[in-house]
Amino acid sequence: TDTCVLVCGGGNAAQVVTGLLSVRYKTIAVSFFADEAEKWKTALGNDSFELTVEGAAVNKIVSKPAGITNDPSVAKDADVIILAVPSFAHGEYFEKFAPYMKPGTIVGVMPARSGGDILFSSKMGEKAKDMVFVGFETLPWACRFSEWGRKATILGTKNTILAAVTPPSAKAKALGTLQGLLGVYPFIVESPTNLGISLRNPGMIVHPGVMYGRWGPESWDGKAKAEKPLFYQGVDDFTETVLLGMTDEVQAVCRKMEKMVPGLCLKDACTLKQWYLDCYDGQMTDTSTLKGCMNTNKAYDGLTHPCKGEAGNYMPDLNYRYLAEDVPTGLCFAKGMAEILSMPTPTIDKVITWAQGCIGLEIMVDGKMTGKDLAKTRAPQGVGITTPAEFIKLAKLEPKG
Ligand code: NAI
Repeated sequence: TDTCVLVCGGGNAAQVVTGLLSVRYKTIAVSFFADEAEKWKTALGNDSFELTVEGAAVNKIVSKPAGITNDPSVAKDADVIILAVPSFAHGEYFEKFAPYMKPGTIVGVMPARSGGDILFSSKMGEKAKDMVFVGFETLPWACRFSEWGRKATILGTKNTILAAVTPPSAKAKALGTLQGLLGVYPFIVESPTNLGISLRNPGMIVHPGVMYGRWGPESWDGKAKAEKPLFYQGVDDFTETVLLGMTDEVQAVCRKMEKMVPGLCLKDACTLKQWYLDCYDGQMTDTSTLKGCMNTNKAYDGLTHPCKGEAGNYMPDLNYRYLAEDVPTGLCFAKGMAEILSMPTPTIDKVITWAQGCIGLEIMVDGKMTGKDLAKTRAPQGVGITTPAEFIKLAKLEPKG
């Protein structure tokens, strides 16, 4: 077809998406990271990219991207732009593409994490009203490159995946187009609003919450551990209270937003326990409590805390993406929303206050979202939003009913 797609990034996910789409569409890989585009071009040379799909009938996909570049002006011909890159890099792509993008461009972000639509709108400026943002709750595949720039493997494909479209009027066209690109699986399930995707983000609760529960000032003596503690299956009563506190505070934000915007539906922004029940059905032997869902979840067998050091002498890796990504582009959004709505979030506050020191950012000062590094986070305050009215406008939340 004539559809022109840009795939952004250069890691596992971006390579897989490039390989997958190049077969049927004019696909250009774009990376703004250092000299990554040039390196990728050199690595591939005149050869084709080889994608292996584990467990599929046709398990080898051989294709050639139409280009690999760091030139943002390719956005002028793009019908669809897919971001398959860690969330801290999203802003740079939005900003560099903005001057070139044509009206109606569909921008799909997988995963969007939290507040991706707000960042997008603010970077697009005047153009935001003509652009379509599609936030995915996660990446559709578990995947790894096997030979950088040349070969990659899809280890597993999700059956279904939630995605929300901003503005809602573009829903049918955007989801139809993206489903066409992805193929039959995963089946895209429409979520009513990107605010729901943002406040659903389970990683923003689970990762910082479990890190705080184990390594925070209330529970850790600062001494090395002989073994790496189990991450999910090692959740204890104290950590459970932290997780429940955080998830309840987010629920309160949801209910207040729903009151404020008639017709707004945040059903997908469920509690963490509900998320486990929905996503890991049949894999847990005790679902009576949140702790039970995590401790008895087979999918988590063997998963430990990120640590540095060696057996007998492990220290936590407090700069791992569980804090370095999930706090700035997850939890900070939720905290920022709560502050805009004047709602107290004592549990989230203590987690952010501890985590910001671990990752070397100044986010909260004296309990307020006023730190100098706010613009590096997804807190709406980072793009100057401090009132509900400003947020509702930038999020394009159209009151219904
Ligand atoms: P990755 O770690 O392979 O991505 C690396 C890429 O990020 C680099 O190639 C570069 O393009 C970009 N990058 C790295 N450092 C940068 C910097 N300082 N400035 C600008 N760009 C930089 O990540 P991967 O595996 O491709 O995943 C992408 C997203 O999907 C992540 O958010 C990840 O958590 C998520 N995800 C990945 C899964 C997988 O199976 N690979 C599964 C589920 C979610």
